[in-house]
Amino acid sequence: MREQLENILSRVQAELSAIQDTGALEQLRVKVMGKKGEFTAILRGMGQIPADQRPAMGQMVNEVRNKLESAIEEARIRLGLIEKEARLKQEAIDVTLPGTSRCRGSLHPMSIVLDDLLDIFTGMGFEVVEGPEVEYDHYNFELLNLPKHHPARDAQDTFYIDDNIVLRTHTSPVQARIMTTRKPPIRIVCPGRVYRADEVDATHSPVFHQIEGLVIDEDISIGDLKGTLDTFAHRLYGPGVTTRFRPSFFPFTEPSAEVDLTCANCDGAGCKMCKGTGWIEVLGSGMVNPKVLEMCGIDSKKYTGFAFGMGIERLAILRYNIPDMRYLYENDLRFLKQFR
Ligand code: PHE
Repeated sequence: MREQLENILSRVQAELSAIQDTGALEQLRVKVMGKKGEFTAILRGMGQIPADQRPAMGQMVNEVRNKLESAIEEARIRLGLIEKEARLKQEAIDVTLPGTSRCRGSLHPMSIVLDDLLDIFTGMGFEVVEGPEVEYDHYNFELLNLPKHHPARDAQDTFYIDDNIVLRTHTSPVQARIMTTRKPPIRIVCPGRVYRADEVDATHSPVFHQIEGLVIDEDISIGDLKGTLDTFAHRLYGPGVTTRFRPSFFPFTEPSAEVDLTCANCDGAGCKMCKGTGWIEVLGSGMVNPKVLEMCGIDSKKYTGFAFGMGIERLAILRYNIPDMRYLYENDLRFLKQFR
């Protein structure tokens, strides 16, 4: 038995010095000291030892047990340190490396211009109203003095869902909806998406955005229209910009005018952008046709009003000197990043 104990001790010491990780160490500990371990088996043999030898044997067993335990413990500490070291090395973070930078987003140029427009018009006391993009022919055309088969419909040929439902060609139907449901005074702007059967090119898209305004009250004159649009032009493009009214025709306004603004690119001197004229056409406007007021249930003897409408893409293109409207829809980051 003495031999067996010495044997185990030297074998375990040898094995311990070769062991590389705490997993193997634990296996070795179980193999020796565990319930079914070799050392434990020797202990069980103590019963067979003659009584007079037992104290001496017991002492030796204890010594060997202590040696085994402390050798195993030592190895555990040594391996633990090594493993910790390795783990730290592996998990090390190099705080001097540059971080992964996040791309900062920005507002789309259309949103910037729309925000500015809403600021300008709400600043003048207009309320913002929205309406459906899929609209009744009744609101999109008929209440605006564009009866079925009226030739002026051609200028706004659209996508028909059926005979009575269309994709709205302008945001004027929102104004018609308001006129039929509210009493004057009315002072609203209607921004939104509109649809026309146009081919895509540098200045046209079958889907685009408008903002239209409507004011109805007693004693509203064309002077109010002009003052409102002048203020709008100054706020959007700067105080040097003025308006020019050219007679035009819209079935829902009488009289009607196209409104040009001084070309902001050349300050009116004439350039490529304004085709040498010094002016850029930006919107349609006029005094609300009394016939429209009556159709919408508003007393045209008592009330007058003005209306105007413009394409937001066009305003954005002019403000940022964008050469092609399609840039606004392509979501090309190289384009969008320029509006930070
Ligand atoms: N609704 C017209 C268009 O879309 C614009 C407009 C609005 C003209 C109001 C006059 C008055 O073309």
